[in-house]
Amino acid sequence: MKLTIFAATGGIGRQVLEQAVAAGHDVTAVVRNPKKLSRQVRTVTADLAAADPSALEFAVDRADAVLSGLGPRSNSESKIVSQGTRAIVQAMQATDVRRIVVVSAAPIGTMPSHGRPKLPKHDPGDGFFMRNLLGPLVKAALRKHYTDLALMEDILHDSGLDWTVVRPPRLTDGPLTGTYRTAYGRNLRRGILISRADVAHLMLRVLEQPETIKQTIGIAN
Ligand SMILES: NC(=O)c1ccc[n+]([C@@H]2O[C@H](COP(=O)([O-])OP(=O)(O)OC[C@H]3O[C@@H](n4cnc5c(N)ncnc54)[C@H](OP(=O)(O)O)[C@@H]3O)[C@@H](O)[C@H]2O)c1
Repeated sequence: MKLTIFAATGGIGRQVLEQAVAAGHDVTAVVRNPKKLSRQVRTVTADLAAADPSALEFAVDRADAVLSGLGPRSNSESKIVSQGTRAIVQAMQATDVRRIVVVSAAPIGTMPSHGRPKLPKHDPGDGFFMRNLLGPLVKAALRKHYTDLALMEDILHDSGLDWTVVRPPRLTDGPLTGTYRTAYGRNLRRGILISRADVAHLMLRVLEQPETIKQTIGIAN
């Protein structure tokens, strides 16, 4: 497939890049700092905080799918995921590219947003500990970032594109196993960790699974 990978210098993005190249896909990486790329591939340089629409259109044009591992590197970038994803979506709409796979986070299923004001209080996959102790603590600590991820999900819902949102719990730099658990629209019971490599594996795997279009997918080891 012809794939365009945004944030290919990040933890998940780098894994998506490596696995996509290893699988023989034709890859274009979109990054703000090409020197950080782990290998040489066709590259488009763009800062998604202030991207030139024509550069993004060039990057996604004729892609079979777009993948994004975009995330904030600091608190001052707390709106970058929605801002960047909006720009990516606009470029895809302008070039008639339909398929996009992005990373969100496990708590977003219970994070109300403008587009999804009425959500269940608890994720059906979360057990007592996650619902009552860890979940509220993490949400309070990362509220700004989660608000932005929820907005990103709204943007995709409204986009008319063929999106898939992957919602991982805490990320690790552990190895690729390919033996993780997944669930549509909910988290996984006792699923508190997943490696970035396995998240990347799922992001590429869903491209061959049309039933994952317009779905959020929980993942955990
Ligand atoms: N950490 C966790 O435990 C956890 C859990 C659940 C979900 N998540 C979510 O998973 C996502 C990815 O996580 P990760 O650990 O792979 O992230 P990461 O290593 O921090 O990578 C973030 C990527 O976004 C890029 N980026 C940031 N601002 C940009 C901008 N203005 N223009 C272009 N690119 C920009 C970075 O580029 P540079 O390399 O140039 O900085 C980098 O490639 C994040 O959204 C995070 O919220 C994280």
